[in-house]
Amino acid sequence: MGVPFSPARNYGRIVVTGVGVADTIGDGVGTGCAFAPSVIVPAMHAPARTMPANHLLIELLPPSVLNGSPTPGPAAQTAASAAGNKERGEAAPRPAIIQDTMGVIDLPYTRSVAEETDPVFRRVEHVIPRVEWPLHAPYVAAINRLKRERNAVILAHNYQVPEIFHTVADIVGDSLALAMQAAKTDADVIVLCGVHFMAETAKLVNPAKTVLVPDLKAGCSLAESITAADVRLLRERYPKTPIVTYVNTSAEVKAESDVCVTSGNAVQIVEALGAPRVIFLPDEYLANYVASKTRVEIIAWKGHCEVHERFTGNDVRRFREDDPSLVVLAHPECPPDVLAEADYVGSTQGMTEYVGKVASGEARVLLLTECSMADNVSGRYPGVEFVRPCNLCPHMKRNTLPKVLHSLEAMEYEVTVAPEIAQRARRAVDRMLAFSQPRD
Ligand code: 13P
Ligand code: SF4
Repeated sequence: MGVPFSPARNYGRIVVTGVGVADTIGDGVGTGCAFAPSVIVPAMHAPARTMPANHLLIELLPPSVLNGSPTPGPAAQTAASAAGNKERGEAAPRPAIIQDTMGVIDLPYTRSVAEETDPVFRRVEHVIPRVEWPLHAPYVAAINRLKRERNAVILAHNYQVPEIFHTVADIVGDSLALAMQAAKTDADVIVLCGVHFMAETAKLVNPAKTVLVPDLKAGCSLAESITAADVRLLRERYPKTPIVTYVNTSAEVKAESDVCVTSGNAVQIVEALGAPRVIFLPDEYLANYVASKTRVEIIAWKGHCEVHERFTGNDVRRFREDDPSLVVLAHPECPPDVLAEADYVGSTQGMTEYVGKVASGEARVLLLTECSMADNVSGRYPGVEFVRPCNLCPHMKRNTLPKVLHSLEAMEYEVTVAPEIAQRARRAVDRMLAFSQPRD
């Protein structure tokens, strides 16, 4: 239908431009990528069963914005055009449609915003299309100003959309890097753009600080796959076996565990415990992967990541048939048949570093992980060509620039952990940090 998607980028949010387009889309709003699957996730996009209703932003833009020139915000334009229509005796146009359940703040792209944010845009223009910038820039300017006022720091996971990752985040990385940096920061406020367990971890290592999340509903299927009562039952059944828990769990689950791990240090920590066998919770596939790398016996749980479990070994083989030179990187939350096909298996930070190693060659790279990874890694290595099948994490995609701004303005939504849980959960996280190699 002639919608100007940028094929160079995976969209967590989609900006549809052009008058009348929203009418055509109709009920497509809020149903994830269902109306444009071939643009977003060409080969592997699963049905949008878990897409939150708020992850699409559909907005009608006037030609001046399409040309990249500063204009009043959409609400102001709607009001102005309604007044003109009234004079001409025409029916008022339908207002711009902005689908975002929280924190919708309609900020204008003024000349001063354009001047203030232009240097930022120049850094990101190979990842964020110019047509989108007037939507993001007012938020980028306001967030960066408010961060200074509040002495706040924004920590963003590698799966955040490029407009958060590249323009307002102070620290980016995998779960381990975010936990380590949260422990070090001297800011008063931490805004965690990721998912809830990451914010809880930041709070555990930094109890005196205010930890905020832009959207409290940003959860994780792995964290939801196990409860503290489950862990207590396992402890009863295997009283002498250490319980190793992935950070993708609630604070209550961490509190019942002996040590936490991330995908970046799981093998190292399982070995360092010196036990003949461990219980490894809750990701079955990560547990399998760890078992393949160590002689320690692993007792696993059947939790899965709803994003990574959708990849299959057949998908990878098909891509390799098309291009035998393809470099395939997979996150260890993928099923074993996918990992068996990969050239590299590692955390999101490990993947980024691996791309850095192949970046000097002519490599084409396939990242078997969440969609924003390729956008964000390509920000660092613009010369690398990414093949872009991917799956969206609907939880990570709950975070948007308007919500980040709302979070800093209203100091919402604060993440807290009950003291009796926090004390025990912190022990497991601190133990993980003590085992982990320092990173730059
Ligand atoms: P990393 O620790 O590798 O960044 O992974 C976190 C995550 O949620 C992967 O799905
Ligand atoms: Fe959880 Fe998977 Fe989303 Fe990571 S990608 S936050 S493991 S659901």
